[in-house]
Amino acid sequence: MGSAYFDAHSLWQRMDKPLFTSLTEDLTTEVCVVGAGISGLSTAYYLLKAGVTVTVLERERLGLGETGLTSAHLSNALDEGYVSLRRQHGDEGARLAAESHTYAINEIERIQRVELIDCDFQRVKGYLFLKPDGKVTDLIHELEAVHATGLSQVRLLPEAPVRLFKTGPCLEYPRQAQFHPLKYLDGLADAVVKLGGRIFTHTEVTEVIGGNAAEVRTKQGAKVSCQSIVVATDSPFINKVAVHTKNPAYRSYVIGVPVEPEQVDQALLWDTCAPYHYLRFVKEPGTGKDLLLIGGEDHRTGQGKDPESHFANLEKWAREHLDIAARPLTRWSGQILEPLDGLAYIGRNPGEHDNVYIATGDSGHGLTHGTIAGIIIRDMILDRPNEWQSLYDPSRLHFSSLATYVKETVQSTAPYGDWLSVGDVDDVSEIPNGEGAVISDGLKKIAAYKDDNGRVHACSAVCPHLGGIVRWNGAEKTWDCPCHGSRFDRFGEVLNGPANQELAPTSIGPGADEVVEPLLPSI
Ligand code: FES
Repeated sequence: MGSAYFDAHSLWQRMDKPLFTSLTEDLTTEVCVVGAGISGLSTAYYLLKAGVTVTVLERERLGLGETGLTSAHLSNALDEGYVSLRRQHGDEGARLAAESHTYAINEIERIQRVELIDCDFQRVKGYLFLKPDGKVTDLIHELEAVHATGLSQVRLLPEAPVRLFKTGPCLEYPRQAQFHPLKYLDGLADAVVKLGGRIFTHTEVTEVIGGNAAEVRTKQGAKVSCQSIVVATDSPFINKVAVHTKNPAYRSYVIGVPVEPEQVDQALLWDTCAPYHYLRFVKEPGTGKDLLLIGGEDHRTGQGKDPESHFANLEKWAREHLDIAARPLTRWSGQILEPLDGLAYIGRNPGEHDNVYIATGDSGHGLTHGTIAGIIIRDMILDRPNEWQSLYDPSRLHFSSLATYVKETVQSTAPYGDWLSVGDVDDVSEIPNGEGAVISDGLKKIAAYKDDNGRVHACSAVCPHLGGIVRWNGAEKTWDCPCHGSRFDRFGEVLNGPANQELAPTSIGPGADEVVEPLLPSI
């Protein structure tokens, strides 16, 4: 795919429902949800079902966020592993984690059925297999932990019943699932509207004010007055530090390789590597061709090697381990937020008024975590007991997670050293067409992108979240902040938070604009 612009939604089809317009006048609602991904729309759906009035505001159109970038595994076999979850959350916490994700899969199955959402939902089995030098005892320990959570039907097999390759010993997880994430999101949006909810797209929220006179303000000027606010924007832009220091952002990569129909087994597979590889089969929308999705190669956002190398590594891994020779037909990348202890942060925003809620930290299970968020936040707003609430409390920091916290914080703060670096190139003439580079201009750092016609687009390279210096991502043509994962398109517009402002436009040359000092987060 060379230097072609990255098509982030190359597999799942985009939605562009004409139904939704931007918010142009003030309104009043009981709950205002910011963000129309799986978390936001699930929350809206559950609240509407309970008789609450809801308004949803989305910065883009539907399906352009991370929900549309998932490979859509629905699993209660959590990436963190139940050995680790038991250590960090205790036996009861691990049991509740398993219970909540199992419940979420069942809920997605129920909702797509009762709301008549044609989203290709399919129950499949999942298989965890060993990395090449892995030990069966690792699977046995994980199996013991899984059984302790109540997932008693998980079992150890000598081989997964798939035709594409020999897995060797594996754990089999029954009643997992897969679906088309954007068809589900589309149907959920329809259900929200049918229930009386209002959805406004292309409406950028700039300010969230909790308390008695709760209000959500938008860039366009219109305001929403409400009793509760739910920020479900993947990375909550309203929280500057408290959550982001324990919710590091990772890029994750997927390729889709054509396979023969006789090689297809509807199953989810993943290995014990770190970062792990995962596999699932899917029909390519439009052509109906069988594709094998292969994902992995996760790394801290803005801190990877050349992103092209991650796609190449996935392809190499596929050739070495699987009986396939074809080149990928599609590829994309998404952002994963990895909470320190493997579970999402769902509930009241720490340090905020009691009526402001967040849902973040997908941990590679954003679809089930998003559904769980809808249930927990509904219950909190309605003051109903919910036994999952404290497990997912955003203010938690377990003693057992402290070592990870320190390691990740060092990884978040080390890139502030880029303030002292000389930049990627000395002069804009060194940037090839279609590429970008950071240039030092005195004490200024400039993110310069040269388009295909050789025109230079210059922004400040200083991330508006907390002053990190963004880095050029040549595969996706984006500016990625290595501190807490904010991302910007090549012209500086926000793609991923926590930043909520674009990179400041600037020009290259002396005295063009001010230097912004970095704001180091308190640890
Ligand atoms: Fe925090 Fe850029 S994302 S400084």
